Amino acid sequence: MTSVPLPLLSAEIGQIRLEVCVGDITTLAVDAIVNAANRSLLGGGGVDGAIHRAAGRELLAECRTLGGCETGGAKMTRGYRLPAKHVIHAVGPVWSDGDKGEDELLASCYRTALDLAAAHRLTSIAFPAISTGVYRFPPDRAARVAVGTVASELAASPRGIGKVVFCCFTPQAADHYMAVFAELGLA
Ligand code: APR
Repeated sequence: MTSVPLPLLSAEIGQIRLEVCVGDITTLAVDAIVNAANRSLLGGGGVDGAIHRAAGRELLAECRTLGGCETGGAKMTRGYRLPAKHVIHAVGPVWSDGDKGEDELLASCYRTALDLAAAHRLTSIAFPAISTGVYRFPPDRAARVAVGTVASELAASPRGIGKVVFCCFTPQAADHYMAVFAELGLA
């Protein structure tokens, strides 16, 4: 039995609950988990590999019908064997030097995922730390983009979403999110 991660921190924006947890996103029973995918949407390593392994072969079969996805974009599939009902495959930017629009492309992943969730009337969504692994985005800067984008987007338009989980794979990764929650006065 895989243990489900418990929130380290939670905050409210209006009626919406934001949580930070440390654990494996494939164990979360939310309406949608977000995948840190590549433009092919045909799987890979990191969280992409974990999600495909946990969801089973049918996930790749559906991904093959999507025709890929541009950086900053996202597409949704079913969750298959995952406890999550859906997977939102977001394509984050590869870090260069911070002057190639990386922040805006990363923010677009979060915004597009929230829009997709709203369009399908999903009320709970979990994000990994998109682009902070293989794509080498500095994790502190990525956490600021992630929390800042989600908080400002949902404050402006709640989209019927009730819960957002930032699922970090390590306590060190979670520290960056906790620091941003404190910076934004959310903690
Ligand atoms: N649950 C939650 N987070 C995870 C998990 C997991 N099971 N596995 C890895 N992570 C974390 C990593 O520690 C990192 O903080 O997800 C974050 C994103 O890292 P990557 O998975 O390497 O994704 P990214 O940096 O966006 O690179 C995407 O890597 O796997 C390939 O196909 C993928 O080409 C794409 C690229």
